[in-house]
Amino acid sequence: MTSIPQHIAIIMDGNGRWAQKLHMPRTVGHAKGAAGVRDLVEFCAHKGVKYLTLFAFSTENWSRPEEEVSTLMGLFLQYLEKELKNLSQAGVRLQVIGDVTGFAQELQDRIAEAVKATADNNGIVLTVAANYGGQWDIVQAVLRWQAAHPHTDALSLKQEQLAQYLSTAHMPDPDLLIRTGGEQRVSNFLLWQLAYAELYFTDVLWPEFDTAQMAFALDWYQTRERKFGQVKATKISA
Ligand code: IPE
Ligand code: IPE
Ligand code: MG
Repeated sequence: MTSIPQHIAIIMDGNGRWAQKLHMPRTVGHAKGAAGVRDLVEFCAHKGVKYLTLFAFSTENWSRPEEEVSTLMGLFLQYLEKELKNLSQAGVRLQVIGDVTGFAQELQDRIAEAVKATADNNGIVLTVAANYGGQWDIVQAVLRWQAAHPHTDALSLKQEQLAQYLSTAHMPDPDLLIRTGGEQRVSNFLLWQLAYAELYFTDVLWPEFDTAQMAFALDWYQTRERKFGQVKATKISA
């Protein structure tokens, strides 16, 4: 039986190394990496994936050289401008998770515009994690829960209640995490939500991660046996 992950989360890593390999500035790698996103979104949608969440910029990425940060911001802005029509036509619903208040007003406006313009679409939900950190997400969830329940004793807080205040509350947790670029770490991505995700690490650098690579990841996912802490049902021989 073919099982397609309902939700795929991706740590798009290796842009800088891809560019350096070609003796080009790291920023060229970011541009190439961003350009490949459209095909991957369409491919996933076509395969029946319902949610695709991309780690575009972490809370720690601010400490990169200023020029690189501003290139990444520019690319995000450009992506929203250039892709909005295409996303809408393809029925994609765009969402952004992360502390967007950290961005320039123009970028914040453009994000709000794109989210609004695609809000009624029924296709794949594309979530861009920008100025996102898993630790940030958990803390903001606690603070928002507390603000919404000022008279409730925090000792009564349950996991399921807190989960409703995470930035991903409207989505099922990822079934599959893909990290390109060879590192085998989570780098403060969806810490809570990855509790039972299958983890797929590939050495392929993000600008070279194309639809054929995505197909490999989906094939690999088929081979996984998900157990969620339970005992696999086995036949008891008589
Ligand atoms: C991922 O590629 C993109 C972002 C983190 C924004 P990197 O820029 O981390 O590329 P490497 O890991 O240095 O090759
Ligand atoms: C993770 O990649 C963040 C994004 C892909 C946006 P990094 O390149 O920042 O992670 P580390 O520094 O290798 O852990
Ligand atoms: Mg990296």
